Amino acid sequence: MDIKKIEFQQHGDSRGMLVVAEYQKEIPFTVKRIYYIYGADSETRRGFHSHKNLQQIYIAIHGSCRVTLTDGKTTETVCLDDAASGLYIGHNVWREIYDFSDDAVLLVLASEPYSEDDYIRTYDQFIQTQTENI
Ligand code: TYD
Repeated sequence: MDIKKIEFQQHGDSRGMLVVAEYQKEIPFTVKRIYYIYGADSETRRGFHSHKNLQQIYIAIHGSCRVTLTDGKTTETVCLDDAASGLYIGHNVWREIYDFSDDAVLLVLASEPYSEDDYIRTYDQFIQTQTENI
């Protein structure tokens, strides 16, 4: 499955923390869009889609949430609770995001502008395309 934990550059000192993620170092794609999710709570479940081409990096810059990911063969659950690391998610990975802490802010870096055509929004269709890709 095309996912990877990424550690960012940390430059913390007595004045506070400063975290850096740079193109071609920690970020393997050109960032063409960012968005962030907040105001979710422990009952919220988001995601439930995969992308045909999009690559993303999820960063819990505050609070925490859990992400369950699958490529149809293997499944992994990752807890995002560290502002100094991110979760890279390649294309063709189904993701479900839940267990948001009340204070969670989930920042997402994306390799492409928003395109609804790039989404696969039903698990059945996702599994079907994964089978076709083999
Ligand atoms: P949605 O895909 O439901 O979010 P999630 O994957 O976190 O469950 O997106 C919510 C709404 O926001 C939906 O109407 C699409 C819109 N949206 C944009 O217009 N641009 C974007 O970059 C994103 C991520 C979503």
